Amino acid sequence: MKVLVIGQGGREHALVWKLSQSPKVTKVYCAPGNAGTGEDAENVDISETDVDALVAFARREKIDLTVPGPEASLVIGVVDAFRKAGLTIFGPTKAAAALEGSKTFAKQIMRNAKVPTADYVTFEDLRAANDYIRERCGGGRFASADRPLQIGGAQEGTIRKTNPTWEQPIVIKADGLAAGKGVRVCHTEEEALEFTRACLVGNSFGKAGSRIIIEECLVGEEASILAIVDGKTIIPLEASQDHKAAYDDDRGPNTGGMGAYCPTPVIDEAMMDEITQSVLIPTVHEMKRKGATFSGVLYAGLMITRQGPKVLEFNVRFGDPETQPVLMRLKTDLFDVLYSAAIGKLRELPDLEWDPRPAVCVVMASRGYPGEYEKGFPIRGLEKSNDSESTKVFHAGTKRKDDQVINSGGRVLGVTALGQNLDQAKLSAYERVKKIRWEGAWCRKDISDKARTRVKTEE
Ligand code: AMP
Ligand code: GLY
Repeated sequence: MKVLVIGQGGREHALVWKLSQSPKVTKVYCAPGNAGTGEDAENVDISETDVDALVAFARREKIDLTVPGPEASLVIGVVDAFRKAGLTIFGPTKAAAALEGSKTFAKQIMRNAKVPTADYVTFEDLRAANDYIRERCGGGRFASADRPLQIGGAQEGTIRKTNPTWEQPIVIKADGLAAGKGVRVCHTEEEALEFTRACLVGNSFGKAGSRIIIEECLVGEEASILAIVDGKTIIPLEASQDHKAAYDDDRGPNTGGMGAYCPTPVIDEAMMDEITQSVLIPTVHEMKRKGATFSGVLYAGLMITRQGPKVLEFNVRFGDPETQPVLMRLKTDLFDVLYSAAIGKLRELPDLEWDPRPAVCVVMASRGYPGEYEKGFPIRGLEKSNDSESTKVFHAGTKRKDDQVINSGGRVLGVTALGQNLDQAKLSAYERVKKIRWEGAWCRKDISDKARTRVKTEE
């Protein structure tokens, strides 16, 4: 079987690596790929959003299965185009990808399906949004949930006043895709007004910001559930936890994700059942009812609150960097999983098998990331002799230039390791990190510590 993976990040390298291990797979291509995918597969110089060229390539090469990585390909309808051309592809249609592409669409689905999520209101009009924020805030801090809210101008939704005395921030989100930058947890009125302006009139996110959601701030611990779906059958993968903030102890600006580990003690078996029953099943049903049958990866970004799991956001693709540790542990042939989902036969797939060892992925980034970053430096220490059976360096923002691999993106590598326990996995990952060098390279030092603290407190 010939496989095409679309994308160029760490997630795609992990997909390429895992798919190429399948005895059924004879050839893996990656479009456009990075230096790492170029080692484990053959890179093809086609952009992830050039749908016509991707279809033409898949036809010419008689590709048996295509796996798009990024949301950008999905929301513009790469799945629809491949299916129209009679090609087998794993992922949601354009209509179903709106679950990630529009936060208001996702909220409507959740409301109809009674999926637990933060209360919210939506605005397109700056003045109405400002009035709401001022009313709610009442002079500097968001303490005023006890006062009646005049929700003049809100287009839909209400935020319940659940706790009259609790001071809490509000969360403002651009409706559309904003490359991970469209969410701001606002602690002051000033910050909320400024971000709202940037979205609605400042054109910070283009059309994606012409509508905003204002929602209550949820408190708890975050977890990521990636579930493989074929329209009717749902197979959740083992739970993982991302680290979104740039710096240790969850400080600093939001990023695409600075590291992840799997499994996470935040999600035990009972919690997983609850999530399946209260989030995954109703969402998949509601999508079908809506005429946007979902297949592909349903990624639920969750906050595990005192009231139970609540959805922060849905994504419609594998998470990055969650995919790296999750796939490191998956023993089942990934080709079988994705192909079965693509042809609607997930029900026939035997139970997934997992390596019992936990996995930790540490993201190494370029100096300056998540802001403007420096690139073009040669990366040393990638030699295979530095690897072991239980470590893998997944490439993200890398490029081959002559004989060297250089950094070409903000998130550059996802150094991933398995270990007998989480401490061992973390140790191995950081030992591998230490052998890698380029000018300005940095990483968080505390990936997976949250799990260790939790395990210790519970013991
Ligand atoms: P998103 O891009 O929607 O995943 O949001 C980015 C990050 O913002 C999440 O991973 C959370 O850390 C935070 N966030 C988003 N929505 C909320 C919320 N309602 N309450 C608290 N934190 C949130
Ligand atoms: N790790 C977060 C994401 O993939 O959106």
